[in-house]
Amino acid sequence: MTEGLPARYGGEPIRDDVLGYGAQSITDHEKEAVLEALESDYITRGPTVEEFEERVAEHVGVEHAIATTSGTTALHLAGHAAGFGSGDEVITTPLTFVSTAHAATYNDAEPVFADIDPHRRTLDPEAVREHVTKETAGLVPMHYAGHPADIDGLLKVANEHDLTVIWDACHAFGGSWRGEPIGAQRDMAVFSFHPVKSITTGEGGMVVTDDDELADRLRRLRSFDMNYDLEDHDDEPWYQVTEGVGHNYNVTDLQAALGLAQLDRLEAFKQRRDEIIEQYDSALNEIKGLRTPPKSTESDPMYHLYAIEVTEAFGCDRTEFVNAMHAENIGVQVHYVPLHYHPLFQEEFGYAPGAFPKTERVYDGLVSLPLHAEMDRKDIKDVVTAVKTLYEYHLK
Ligand SMILES: Cc1ncc(COP(=O)(O)O)c(C=O)c1O
Repeated sequence: MTEGLPARYGGEPIRDDVLGYGAQSITDHEKEAVLEALESDYITRGPTVEEFEERVAEHVGVEHAIATTSGTTALHLAGHAAGFGSGDEVITTPLTFVSTAHAATYNDAEPVFADIDPHRRTLDPEAVREHVTKETAGLVPMHYAGHPADIDGLLKVANEHDLTVIWDACHAFGGSWRGEPIGAQRDMAVFSFHPVKSITTGEGGMVVTDDDELADRLRRLRSFDMNYDLEDHDDEPWYQVTEGVGHNYNVTDLQAALGLAQLDRLEAFKQRRDEIIEQYDSALNEIKGLRTPPKSTESDPMYHLYAIEVTEAFGCDRTEFVNAMHAENIGVQVHYVPLHYHPLFQEEFGYAPGAFPKTERVYDGLVSLPLHAEMDRKDIKDVVTAVKTLYEYHLK
């Protein structure tokens, strides 16, 4: 009799097919939009990219949106436009994907980690304050799982020390904070349109800002730092010259066409994610030893992840939990191995485990359960059954 027994301990897997932790949602309308773009004059950066940028800027309520090839290149570009460079320190969170730190490293600046507020799981303003030196040039906070960082607290530190802030909002597009869209806060914010994010363009990213000078710099740097608009060359229409080491981070009209169609569904995506979260919360809040994601009192987040913490009272540790879910064909994931555990940051910048106790404590329990708009009732039920079956097995 194996009924009620977790698959890891001899039962039948709850699912035959694997349920991923995230996935895109693409309709025929979106496929048609991409085909239409493919048949137009531009399949590189053309008018559809401009339209996508305008729509994103309008949604966020900022003056400028600059599309790039990914969230990673958007962070690189934002750091470059901010002027981060050799000798500069940039303070960021260790509980993030590596690209957040690359806003500094790609620009030869040093990423300086500061510990997190374990409730929000985002950069703690007090910890930031302790790490500010005369070399500090900026902050790159990250809105973990879509839950906004302490925006007020972090802006206060930035104001005190005249620091540029780049919000890594790759998880958070579509959410708001005190009624203001995420991304509208100074100086720049970065979104990712990777398939598991709020909306997708396949690969893709965006920098948004209200600052005209930064926007001009971002646009130039995205495209080779080329000046196409030179005075005294009116009769030389071919004349374009590079004024610095820029990049080719141009996106295509094909991606922008997909992005525009996805934007039309942003509210529906949010609603579906919120429904799934509500169902998870009501089923999982009662389980001792599971910490469900924090609720925000000051924001209406667009949650990218449903990241729980498995604590001792659950009966097994996080490693066992992850492997037990995988045995049930539930594709859970851990976001993230803290950056100070990675060889890059240990070897290049001297970090070591033990440096950020709050981050490490949170990390030890973190598991992201599946969360995406295409999940149906059975998918949600399967996840809840898998978690409850595991809990009850360890209770015995
Ligand atoms: C917090 C964070 N920042 C940046 C990125 C990079 O985004 P992209 O995959 O679009 O390069 C990711 C990607 O997952 C991320 O999670």
